[in-house]
Amino acid sequence: MKNDFWDPSKEHCAVITGASSGIGAEFARLLGAKGCFLILSGRNEEALEKLRKEIGKDNCVIIPADLSNPKSCIDLYARSRKYSPDILINNAGFGLYGEFTETSLSKELEMIDVNVKAVHILFKLFLKDFTKNNRGYILNVASTAGLLPGPLMSTYYSTKSYVIRQTQAVFEELRRRKSPVHVSVLCPGPVSTEFNTRAGIEGFMKGITPKYCAAYTLSKMKQNKLMIIPTAKMQLAMAAVKIAPVCLACAVSYTLQSGKKRID
Ligand SMILES: NC(=O)c1ccc[n+]([C@@H]2O[C@H](COP(=O)([O-])OP(=O)(O)OC[C@H]3O[C@@H](n4cnc5c(N)ncnc54)[C@H](OP(=O)(O)O)[C@@H]3O)[C@@H](O)[C@H]2O)c1
Repeated sequence: MKNDFWDPSKEHCAVITGASSGIGAEFARLLGAKGCFLILSGRNEEALEKLRKEIGKDNCVIIPADLSNPKSCIDLYARSRKYSPDILINNAGFGLYGEFTETSLSKELEMIDVNVKAVHILFKLFLKDFTKNNRGYILNVASTAGLLPGPLMSTYYSTKSYVIRQTQAVFEELRRRKSPVHVSVLCPGPVSTEFNTRAGIEGFMKGITPKYCAAYTLSKMKQNKLMIIPTAKMQLAMAAVKIAPVCLACAVSYTLQSGKKRID
């Protein structure tokens, strides 16, 4: 059955995690401009409130939450339910740069909590509702990082790999039962946001704008694409990764990562 990700005759409500900056904030602006009711989440309440004012106070609510705590994920889900959301943009996440023996264990566990556990919890809880209602769309935000091993950012790459595999598998389950609910996974290459600064690096590759990333993604969601990779350059690079031996992908990945400058 075809999914109606965006049906102008229906009211839509989207939950967006990581809406306080970067790609998540752009999803909020674009969906808000379409008349979608928004539930914006993140830890930075001030940034969320500012965005809410910009979009229009009547069209959104904010639910500040630290998603590294599973209880906060469940609470976000429970508080969102009363608005009957039909779109989830599962976007919150962060990275960390450095050799595995040197990076902070507690920061990595927090990363696994946000990038894997929170995405998993929200994916599952909202999908259950969406499948019951026979309506809805979930976008899990991964990265091209999830498509290959990532020396010098090994934990981040691994978390994103989890998100890709989980989404692909669930996509197939929904397809087999002809569910009208659709799931996609977004795999961008570099995007110019606060991501690098938070990960403790200065990138060397110019990223696409978060606005372009979000707009491109929404256009592909309309086409029910499973994996969304913005830009032809990245699509080509990932096609090459698919056929390259793992040791070559690893070596290239190391070379690219080692070109980044650490910010202390
Ligand atoms: N930028 C890139 O190059 C790139 C490339 C591929 C994939 N991605 C992915 O895109 C997603 C968005 O990142 P971005 O580039 O837009 O970076 P960003 O500007 O740093 O945004 C990250 C968002 O995640 C939220 N977040 C982080 N930790 C959180 C926590 N413990 N609880 C709740 N929210 C938390 C942040 O909100 P608060 O600080 O308010 O909590 C922020 O809104 C991430 O999943 C990232 O991995 C980014």
